[in-house]
Amino acid sequence: MKYRILKKTVLIPGQTSLLVIDAPHVAKKAKPGNFVILRTSEKGERIPLTIADCDPEAGTITIVFLVVGKTTAEMNTFEEGQSLHDVCGPLGRPTHIEKQGTVICVGGGTGVAAMHHIAKGHAAIGNHVVAIVGARNKDLLLFCNELGSFCPEVLIATDDGSMGHHGFVTDVLKERLEQDKDVSEVVAVGPVPMMEAVSKVTKPFGVKTTVSLNAIMVDGIGMCGACRCTVGGETKFACVDGPEFDGHKVDFGELRLRLGQFRDQEKQSMELFQHKCHCAEGK
Ligand SMILES: Cc1cc2nc3c(=O)[nH]c(=O)nc-3n(C[C@H](O)[C@H](O)[C@H](O)COP(=O)(O)OP(=O)(O)OC[C@H]3O[C@@H](n4cnc5c(N)ncnc54)[C@H](O)[C@@H]3O)c2cc1C
Ligand code: FES
Repeated sequence: MKYRILKKTVLIPGQTSLLVIDAPHVAKKAKPGNFVILRTSEKGERIPLTIADCDPEAGTITIVFLVVGKTTAEMNTFEEGQSLHDVCGPLGRPTHIEKQGTVICVGGGTGVAAMHHIAKGHAAIGNHVVAIVGARNKDLLLFCNELGSFCPEVLIATDDGSMGHHGFVTDVLKERLEQDKDVSEVVAVGPVPMMEAVSKVTKPFGVKTTVSLNAIMVDGIGMCGACRCTVGGETKFACVDGPEFDGHKVDFGELRLRLGQFRDQEKQSMELFQHKCHCAEGK
Protein backbone atom coordinates (compact mmCIF):
# COMPACT_ATOMS: atom_id res chain seq x y z
CA MET A 1 0.00 0.00 0.00
CA LYS A 2 1.27 3.48 -0.88
CA TYR A 3 0.66 6.49 1.31
CA ARG A 4 0.16 9.38 -1.09
CA ILE A 5 0.91 12.93 -0.07
CA LEU A 6 -2.31 14.75 -0.95
CA LYS A 7 -1.19 18.17 0.26
CA LYS A 8 2.10 19.76 1.26
CA THR A 9 2.30 23.13 2.98
CA VAL A 10 5.67 24.68 3.75
CA LEU A 11 5.08 26.32 7.14
CA ILE A 12 8.63 27.62 7.60
CA PRO A 13 10.81 27.44 4.45
CA GLY A 14 13.58 24.82 4.69
CA GLN A 15 12.56 24.01 8.23
CA THR A 16 8.98 22.90 8.88
CA SER A 17 6.41 21.34 6.57
CA LEU A 18 2.90 19.96 6.90
CA LEU A 19 1.80 16.90 4.94
CA VAL A 20 -1.73 15.57 4.52
CA ILE A 21 -1.38 11.86 3.80
CA ASP A 22 -3.84 9.36 2.42
CA ALA A 23 -3.92 6.74 5.21
CA PRO A 24 -7.55 5.63 5.72
CA HIS A 25 -6.88 2.80 8.18
CA VAL A 26 -4.84 5.14 10.43
CA ALA A 27 -7.32 8.04 10.14
CA LYS A 28 -10.22 5.76 11.14
CA LYS A 29 -8.69 4.99 14.54
CA ALA A 30 -6.42 7.99 15.30
CA LYS A 31 -7.00 9.90 18.53
CA PRO A 32 -5.25 12.94 20.05
CA GLY A 33 -1.86 11.90 21.43
CA ASN A 34 -1.31 9.06 18.93
CA PHE A 35 1.66 8.95 16.58
CA VAL A 36 2.75 7.05 13.47
CA ILE A 37 6.06 5.47 12.50
CA LEU A 38 6.87 5.97 8.85
CA ARG A 39 9.52 5.18 6.27
CA THR A 40 10.22 7.19 3.14
CA SER A 41 11.58 4.13 1.29
CA GLU A 42 11.96 0.38 1.79
CA LYS A 43 15.47 0.79 3.21
CA GLY A 44 14.64 4.01 5.03
CA GLU A 45 14.89 4.66 8.77
CA ARG A 46 11.71 4.34 10.82
CA ILE A 47 10.81 7.70 12.35
CA PRO A 48 7.96 8.54 14.75
CA LEU A 49 5.80 11.60 14.08
CA THR A 50 2.73 12.76 15.96
CA ILE A 51 -0.64 12.79 14.24
CA ALA A 52 -1.33 16.54 14.27
CA ASP A 53 -4.84 16.11 12.88
CA CYS A 54 -6.99 13.55 11.13
CA ASP A 55 -10.10 13.37 9.00
CA PRO A 56 -11.65 9.88 9.26
CA GLU A 57 -14.20 10.64 6.52
CA ALA A 58 -11.58 11.78 4.01
CA GLY A 59 -9.23 9.01 5.22
CA THR A 60 -6.36 11.43 5.82
CA ILE A 61 -3.90 12.24 8.57
CA THR A 62 -1.81 15.39 8.98
CA ILE A 63 1.79 15.41 10.13
CA VAL A 64 4.04 18.39 10.79
CA PHE A 65 7.79 17.88 10.90
CA LEU A 66 10.91 19.85 11.61
CA VAL A 67 13.95 19.12 9.44
CA VAL A 68 16.62 17.93 11.88
CA GLY A 69 18.47 15.14 10.08
CA LYS A 70 18.60 12.78 7.11
CA THR A 71 15.08 11.35 7.07
CA THR A 72 13.25 14.61 7.76
CA ALA A 73 15.47 16.38 5.17
CA GLU A 74 14.65 13.67 2.62
CA MET A 75 10.95 13.88 3.45
CA ASN A 76 11.07 17.62 2.91
CA THR A 77 12.03 16.99 -0.75
CA PHE A 78 8.77 15.05 -1.29
CA GLU A 79 6.02 16.85 -3.16
CA GLU A 80 2.27 16.38 -3.53
CA GLY A 81 1.48 13.21 -5.47
CA GLN A 82 4.54 11.33 -4.22
CA SER A 83 4.13 8.55 -1.66
CA LEU A 84 5.73 7.51 1.60
CA HIS A 85 6.71 3.84 1.67
CA ASP A 86 4.78 2.98 4.82
CA VAL A 87 2.90 4.61 7.66
CA CYS A 88 2.30 2.45 10.69
CA GLY A 89 -0.22 3.50 13.32
CA PRO A 90 -1.97 4.85 15.19
CA LEU A 91 0.59 4.05 17.90
CA GLY A 92 0.91 4.99 21.56
CA ARG A 93 -1.76 5.55 24.15
CA PRO A 94 -4.17 8.33 23.26
CA THR A 95 -4.38 11.39 25.51
CA HIS A 96 -6.61 10.89 28.55
CA ILE A 97 -9.39 13.39 27.87
CA GLU A 98 -12.26 13.96 30.29
CA LYS A 99 -14.51 16.88 31.17
CA GLN A 100 -12.54 18.67 33.89
CA GLY A 101 -12.78 22.45 33.52
CA THR A 102 -9.79 24.54 32.53
CA VAL A 103 -6.89 22.87 30.74
CA ILE A 104 -3.79 24.83 29.71
CA CYS A 105 -2.04 23.43 26.64
CA VAL A 106 1.53 24.64 26.15
CA GLY A 107 3.36 24.11 22.86
CA GLY A 108 6.87 25.00 21.77
CA GLY A 109 8.33 24.81 18.26
CA THR A 110 6.98 21.90 16.20
CA GLY A 111 5.42 20.52 19.39
CA VAL A 112 2.56 22.97 18.83
CA ALA A 113 1.29 20.67 16.05
CA ALA A 114 0.87 17.76 18.46
CA MET A 115 -0.44 20.05 21.19
CA HIS A 116 -3.05 21.37 18.70
CA HIS A 117 -4.63 17.89 18.31
CA ILE A 118 -4.70 17.38 22.09
CA ALA A 119 -6.18 20.87 22.67
CA LYS A 120 -8.84 20.13 20.05
CA GLY A 121 -9.80 16.93 21.90
CA HIS A 122 -10.12 18.81 25.21
CA ALA A 123 -12.20 21.57 23.57
CA ALA A 124 -14.48 19.01 21.88
CA ILE A 125 -15.43 17.48 25.23
CA GLY A 126 -16.25 20.89 26.68
CA ASN A 127 -13.13 21.90 28.60
CA HIS A 128 -12.06 25.55 28.67
CA VAL A 129 -8.77 25.35 26.79
CA VAL A 130 -6.10 28.01 27.19
CA ALA A 131 -3.35 27.62 24.57
CA ILE A 132 0.13 29.00 25.21
CA VAL A 133 2.31 28.99 22.12
CA GLY A 134 6.01 29.79 22.04
CA ALA A 135 8.70 30.28 19.41
CA ARG A 136 12.02 32.08 18.96
CA ASN A 137 10.32 34.81 16.88
CA LYS A 138 6.92 35.58 15.31
CA ASP A 139 7.83 33.99 11.95
CA LEU A 140 8.31 30.63 13.66
CA LEU A 141 4.93 30.58 15.44
CA LEU A 142 2.73 27.67 14.34
CA PHE A 143 -1.00 26.87 14.49
CA CYS A 144 -2.07 30.12 16.25
CA ASN A 145 -5.05 30.68 13.91
CA GLU A 146 -6.15 27.04 14.09
CA LEU A 147 -5.96 27.11 17.91
CA GLY A 148 -7.92 30.37 17.92
CA SER A 149 -10.82 28.64 16.15
CA PHE A 150 -11.58 26.48 19.22
CA CYS A 151 -9.61 27.93 22.17
CA PRO A 152 -11.14 30.98 23.90
CA GLU A 153 -7.63 32.12 24.82
CA VAL A 154 -4.42 31.85 22.78
CA LEU A 155 -1.43 33.38 24.58
CA ILE A 156 1.82 33.91 22.70
CA ALA A 157 5.43 34.18 23.85
CA THR A 158 8.44 34.87 21.63
CA ASP A 159 12.07 34.83 22.75
CA ASP A 160 12.76 38.13 20.91
CA GLY A 161 9.48 39.83 21.82
CA SER A 162 8.38 40.18 18.16
CA MET A 163 4.89 38.99 19.15
CA GLY A 164 3.10 38.52 22.48
CA HIS A 165 5.08 38.20 25.69
CA HIS A 166 8.82 38.90 25.39
CA GLY A 167 10.22 35.73 26.95
CA PHE A 168 9.31 32.11 27.47
CA VAL A 169 6.02 30.22 27.59
CA THR A 170 6.84 29.37 31.20
CA ASP A 171 6.60 33.08 32.20
CA VAL A 172 3.09 33.25 30.69
CA LEU A 173 2.12 29.94 32.30
CA LYS A 174 3.31 31.03 35.76
CA GLU A 175 1.35 34.29 35.55
CA ARG A 176 -1.79 32.42 34.40
CA LEU A 177 -1.49 29.89 37.26
CA GLU A 178 -1.08 32.72 39.78
CA GLN A 179 -4.28 34.38 38.50
CA ASP A 180 -6.40 31.25 38.09
CA LYS A 181 -6.53 28.71 40.92
CA ASP A 182 -8.98 26.43 39.07
CA VAL A 183 -6.71 25.00 36.40
CA SER A 184 -7.17 21.23 36.41
CA GLU A 185 -4.37 20.17 34.07
CA VAL A 186 -1.39 21.53 32.14
CA VAL A 187 -0.30 19.69 28.98
CA ALA A 188 3.10 20.49 27.47
CA VAL A 189 4.51 19.34 24.13
CA GLY A 190 7.79 20.61 22.74
CA PRO A 191 11.54 20.48 23.22
CA VAL A 192 12.71 18.52 26.29
CA PRO A 193 14.06 21.63 28.14
CA MET A 194 10.69 23.33 27.66
CA MET A 195 8.69 20.38 29.01
CA GLU A 196 11.08 20.11 31.96
CA ALA A 197 10.75 23.85 32.67
CA VAL A 198 6.93 23.66 32.46
CA SER A 199 6.92 20.77 34.95
CA LYS A 200 9.10 22.80 37.36
CA VAL A 201 6.72 25.79 37.11
CA THR A 202 3.56 23.74 37.78
CA LYS A 203 5.01 21.68 40.66
CA PRO A 204 4.56 24.31 43.43
CA PHE A 205 0.98 24.89 42.23
CA GLY A 206 0.23 21.16 42.53
CA VAL A 207 -1.38 21.09 39.08
CA LYS A 208 -1.47 17.80 37.17
CA THR A 209 1.08 18.10 34.36
CA THR A 210 1.24 15.91 31.29
CA VAL A 211 4.24 15.89 28.93
CA SER A 212 4.70 14.02 25.64
CA LEU A 213 8.09 12.30 25.47
CA ASN A 214 9.94 12.23 22.14
CA ALA A 215 12.26 9.33 23.08
CA ILE A 216 14.13 7.56 20.29
CA MET A 217 11.84 4.87 18.89
CA VAL A 218 12.45 1.99 16.52
CA ASP A 219 9.61 -0.54 16.47
CA GLY A 220 7.01 1.55 18.35
CA ILE A 221 5.33 -1.54 19.77
CA GLY A 222 7.28 -2.22 22.98
CA MET A 223 9.67 -4.91 21.68
CA CYS A 224 13.05 -3.18 21.07
CA GLY A 225 13.52 -1.12 24.25
CA ALA A 226 14.91 1.90 22.36
CA CYS A 227 12.41 4.28 23.94
CA ARG A 228 13.15 3.24 27.54
CA CYS A 229 12.72 6.07 30.02
CA THR A 230 12.34 6.41 33.78
CA VAL A 231 9.13 7.78 35.26
CA GLY A 232 8.62 7.85 39.01
CA GLY A 233 11.65 5.55 39.43
CA GLU A 234 10.10 2.90 37.17
CA THR A 235 11.23 1.87 33.69
CA LYS A 236 8.65 2.71 31.03
CA PHE A 237 8.58 2.32 27.26
CA ALA A 238 7.44 5.62 25.79
CA CYS A 239 5.88 3.94 22.74
CA VAL A 240 3.42 1.69 24.57
CA ASP A 241 3.21 3.15 28.10
CA GLY A 242 3.17 6.73 26.72
CA PRO A 243 4.19 8.89 24.98
CA GLU A 244 2.39 11.02 27.60
CA PHE A 245 3.53 10.87 31.23
CA ASP A 246 3.32 12.79 34.49
CA GLY A 247 5.88 15.60 33.99
CA HIS A 248 6.59 15.73 37.73
CA LYS A 249 7.89 12.15 37.64
CA VAL A 250 9.93 12.05 34.40
CA ASP A 251 13.73 11.72 34.58
CA PHE A 252 14.44 14.43 31.97
CA GLY A 253 18.23 14.18 32.41
CA GLU A 254 18.22 10.53 31.32
CA LEU A 255 15.91 11.35 28.38
CA ARG A 256 18.31 14.06 27.18
CA LEU A 257 21.28 11.68 27.36
CA ARG A 258 19.47 8.91 25.49
CA LEU A 259 18.34 11.31 22.74
CA GLY A 260 21.97 12.17 22.00
CA GLN A 261 23.36 8.61 21.93
CA PHE A 262 23.51 8.26 18.10
CA ARG A 263 24.70 11.81 17.29
CA ASP A 264 27.83 10.68 15.37
CA GLN A 265 25.91 8.22 13.19
CA GLU A 266 23.16 10.82 12.57
CA LYS A 267 25.77 13.36 11.47
CA GLN A 268 27.39 10.85 9.08
CA SER A 269 24.02 9.88 7.62
CA MET A 270 23.10 13.55 7.00
CA GLU A 271 26.49 14.26 5.37
CA LEU A 272 26.06 11.25 3.05
CA PHE A 273 22.55 12.40 2.11
CA GLN A 274 23.75 15.96 1.39
CA HIS A 275 26.62 14.58 -0.71
CA LYS A 276 24.17 12.47 -2.76
CA CYS A 277 21.91 15.55 -3.26
CA HIS A 278 24.88 17.61 -4.48
CA CYS A 279 25.96 14.81 -6.88
CA ALA A 280 22.40 14.54 -8.22
CA GLU A 281 22.41 18.29 -8.87
CA GLY A 282 25.73 17.84 -10.73
CA LYS A 283 27.73 19.94 -8.26
C1 LIG B 1 6.30 9.93 19.78
C2 LIG B 1 7.12 10.91 18.99
C3 LIG B 1 6.48 11.87 18.24
C4 LIG B 1 7.24 12.78 17.48
N1 LIG B 1 6.54 13.71 16.76
C5 LIG B 1 7.21 14.59 16.02
C6 LIG B 1 6.50 15.55 15.22
O1 LIG B 1 5.26 15.57 15.19
N2 LIG B 1 7.24 16.41 14.48
C7 LIG B 1 8.61 16.40 14.48
O2 LIG B 1 9.21 17.23 13.78
N3 LIG B 1 9.31 15.50 15.22
C8 LIG B 1 8.65 14.60 15.97
N4 LIG B 1 9.35 13.65 16.70
C9 LIG B 1 10.82 13.62 16.57
C10 LIG B 1 11.21 12.91 15.26
O3 LIG B 1 10.89 11.53 15.34
C11 LIG B 1 12.71 13.09 14.96
O4 LIG B 1 12.96 14.46 14.74
C12 LIG B 1 13.13 12.27 13.73
O5 LIG B 1 13.14 10.90 14.02
C13 LIG B 1 14.53 12.72 13.27
O6 LIG B 1 14.97 11.87 12.23
P1 LIG B 1 16.10 12.38 11.21
O7 LIG B 1 16.60 11.21 10.46
O8 LIG B 1 15.59 13.51 10.40
O9 LIG B 1 17.21 12.99 12.15
P2 LIG B 1 18.46 12.28 12.86
O10 LIG B 1 19.69 12.97 12.43
O11 LIG B 1 18.36 10.79 12.69
O12 LIG B 1 18.20 12.62 14.37
C14 LIG B 1 18.15 13.94 14.89
C15 LIG B 1 17.57 13.86 16.29
O13 LIG B 1 16.22 13.38 16.21
C16 LIG B 1 15.96 12.43 17.24
N5 LIG B 1 15.69 11.12 16.61
C17 LIG B 1 16.42 10.48 15.69
N6 LIG B 1 15.89 9.28 15.35
C18 LIG B 1 14.79 9.15 16.12
C19 LIG B 1 13.83 8.13 16.27
N7 LIG B 1 13.87 6.98 15.58
N8 LIG B 1 12.84 8.32 17.18
C20 LIG B 1 12.75 9.48 17.87
N9 LIG B 1 13.64 10.48 17.78
C21 LIG B 1 14.65 10.32 16.92
C22 LIG B 1 17.21 12.39 18.11
O14 LIG B 1 17.06 13.34 19.16
C23 LIG B 1 18.29 12.84 17.19
O15 LIG B 1 19.39 13.40 17.84
C24 LIG B 1 8.65 12.73 17.48
C25 LIG B 1 9.29 11.76 18.25
C26 LIG B 1 8.56 10.86 18.99
C27 LIG B 1 9.22 9.82 19.80
S1 FES C 1 10.24 1.90 20.35
FE1 FES C 1 10.82 -0.12 20.74
S2 FES C 1 10.14 -0.46 22.76
FE2 FES C 1 9.42 1.52 22.29
